[in-house]
Order: sequence, then C-alpha cells, then structure tokens
Amino acid sequence: MPHHVRHIALIVGSLRRDSINRKVADYITGVAPQRWQISEIEIGDLPLYNQDLDAEPIEAYERVRGQIAAADVVLVVSPEHNRSVPAAVKNILDIASRPAGRGVWAGKKAAVVTASPGVYGGLSAGLHLRQILQALGVSVLVAPEVYLSRAFDALDEQGQLTDARALALLNRFVQALDAWLVD
Ligand SMILES: Cc1cc2nc3c(=O)[nH]c(=O)nc-3n(C[C@H](O)[C@H](O)[C@H](O)COP(=O)(O)O)c2cc1C
Repeated sequence: MPHHVRHIALIVGSLRRDSINRKVADYITGVAPQRWQISEIEIGDLPLYNQDLDAEPIEAYERVRGQIAAADVVLVVSPEHNRSVPAAVKNILDIASRPAGRGVWAGKKAAVVTASPGVYGGLSAGLHLRQILQALGVSVLVAPEVYLSRAFDALDEQGQLTDARALALLNRFVQALDAWLVD
C-alpha cells in the first residue's frame, strides 16, 4: 500500500535551549506516522517584519514563505508569553502574510499545541494563535485541543517527557492530526 507523504512544517515557538515546547515537539516527531515528513521552520534568525522590506528579496523571509507554501500543515508548538503568542511566532505569522495579496497562509491547514509550567497550559496563547490563523484563512485542527499545563511535572529526573497522561494526550493529538490530513 503506498502511503502518501504528508509535509508537516514545524514551528517551535521557544528559542531557548531547554525548551519544554521543544521537548513536546520532539516527542510528536518521534511518534509521528511514517508518512509524515517533518521539516522545521527556523524562526530565531528572522528579522522583525517591516513593511519596507516587502520590496526587497530577504533570503530568510523567502525561505520561510516557501516552507509554509509547500506544507500540507503547519504545526505550531509554542509557549505563552504574557498571556499571548511569543513575538518570534507572531513575526513569522506576519512575514508569511505579506506582501499584501501574496501571503502564503490562505487555504493552509494548521495545528496548535501549547505547553507551560503553569496551570493554564498556555491556553490564552493557544486561543490567540487560533484566532490569528483563522483571520489569515487557515483551517485549524479543532480537537483535541492541547494546552499542556504543569508541563515541567511531565518530565522525569533526566528531563525527558515521560508522564503517561501527557504522552497519551499527545498521541491522541497526532492521531487526530493524521486523520485530518487524510481527508
Ligand atoms: C516573557 C515571558 C512571559 C511569560 N508569560 C507567561 C504566560 O503568560 N503564561 C504562562 O503560562 N507562562 C508564561 N511564561 C513562562 C513560560 O511558560 C515558561 O518560561 C516556559 O518554560 C516557556 O516555554 P519553553 O520552556 O518552551 O521555553 C513566560 C515566560 C517568559 C520568558
């Protein structure tokens, strides 16, 4: 049976080395179905979006616009910063929405995961992210919603993500995303 490849563009919303969100993204990558081809979109080196740059060929901008355009789904795994989306994530959302009329978001699919050591799991950032993506014409996977709370408690002594409930939720998320991509 031939398996159709699914191109997953991964955005990790945290730039820090020991990021819990990166651990979550790594777990998802590790359990992903074979037909998922995951490529990360690096966001740490992107200049802050400036409309004056619309007329200039910015290599890093073209790279990420191309990666989004080529993806079947954009998977965002992100922390919450001050009850919203981290600036680095908002930056790529803006970059790929422009120049006007030539944005690459419309008609795309996306899925959102947030993780936080706090009790709300990055809920507010996750909802803001959904709102922004919907405004850009992106369909966002509806369920399961993953706002992983107390995420540091899901790590074992070696710093590995091993908590059974967290992993079960992420497994369910991967299955739902895969089924949605088959549609
Ligand atoms: C600027 C800043 C703002 C933050 N604001 C929130 C917040 O609003 N809600 C929350 O749950 N955690 C907040 N945090 C804590 C992050 O959830 C925590 O640092 C987490 O580890 C970040 O994810 P990461 O480990 O993937 O980098 C904030 C952290 C920073 C650096």
